[in-house]
Amino acid sequence: MKWRTHPADVLPLWVAEMDVPLAQPVVRAVTEAVALGDTGYPAGSAYAEALSLFAAQRWGWDGLAVERTAIVPDVMLGVVEMLKLVTGPGDAVVVNPPVYPPFFLFVEHMDRRIAEAPLGADGRLDLAVLEETYRRAVSGGGRAAHLLCSPHNPTGTVHTAAELAAVAGLARRYGVRVVADEIHAPLTGPGAEFVPYLAVPGAQDGLSLMSASKGWNLAGLKAALAVAGPAAAADLALLPEEVSHGPSHVGVLAHTAALREGTGWLDALLAGLDDNRRLLRALLAERLPEVVYRPGEATYLAWLDCRALGLGADPAAVFLERGRVALSPGPDFGTGGDGHVRLNLATSAEILTEGVRRMAAAVG
Ligand SMILES: Cc1ncc(COP(=O)(O)O)c(C=O)c1O
Repeated sequence: MKWRTHPADVLPLWVAEMDVPLAQPVVRAVTEAVALGDTGYPAGSAYAEALSLFAAQRWGWDGLAVERTAIVPDVMLGVVEMLKLVTGPGDAVVVNPPVYPPFFLFVEHMDRRIAEAPLGADGRLDLAVLEETYRRAVSGGGRAAHLLCSPHNPTGTVHTAAELAAVAGLARRYGVRVVADEIHAPLTGPGAEFVPYLAVPGAQDGLSLMSASKGWNLAGLKAALAVAGPAAAADLALLPEEVSHGPSHVGVLAHTAALREGTGWLDALLAGLDDNRRLLRALLAERLPEVVYRPGEATYLAWLDCRALGLGADPAAVFLERGRVALSPGPDFGTGGDGHVRLNLATSAEILTEGVRRMAAAVG
């Protein structure tokens, strides 16, 4: 999608796909399946077992129980299914803008109401705002859920154990069910520690969505896992059987291979992304010093505050038209998005450098 959507003269630094060669274990798993004609429907729990082991080794969390998982087609369809389990039509879903635009689109498509609890100016969860939003969300007597993005897209914020425990405490107090989208968790950089939501005290009735798709660039090989805390197992058990028909078997093989054998590749990727964050910071300081960039601790996305450039609510439109560089428009991310763009830095140093050159040319 990244390289196909715009005309050839546009440099694409938008949608969350990486310009990387795939991890060899993934290539091997997919190639062997195709050579063998092993291209039918998915079966078994190998993906969940691989994720459970990865979670224990990577995050020191040994609470991911395979029997409390369900395979889903991808993270967003998994989010929709989890929200259906814990809310009804007309109920509120709390989100923390600026946030991944499909959170709004999918929630509205399923007849739930969005309730915004914006991040603070520091890009972190604002617990006072969250509490007030929870209070209002349940005040009419309906049920409510909190769709938590952890780590956070677009800011790259990694929520701390204390923040997550505070969320769990508030959720318990107001009867709000937390659904954590943890797709970016493997992309947590060396300077930060990812804490799974279900690992914090008080989060027993939480639900999480995890996948190898962002970490290993497998969005075209559809598969993801829904994970329930102990007190949400009964909810997850109500997931309709047909949801498990959606994931791709070849996708499951690829994701499993990534989690089992792709950690060396992932570590090399994270080092490269760290280099790119530093490069982006240097490029912006040199060519666009008015742009405010606070490098995130996770994801390969850079959230750029372009308000000082005076390009209006949607600077991405100006960068595209005048600079021929495609970035994600800030206003799509909800409250706090105006005047911002999201830049995807998972590419080569050459392309990143050319991208910033084009941004600078657009305003020069
Ligand atoms: C926070 C977040 N959730 C979900 C997705 C999409 O995941 P999937 O393709 O598995 O639905 C993305 C993709 O960028 C994302 O950033």
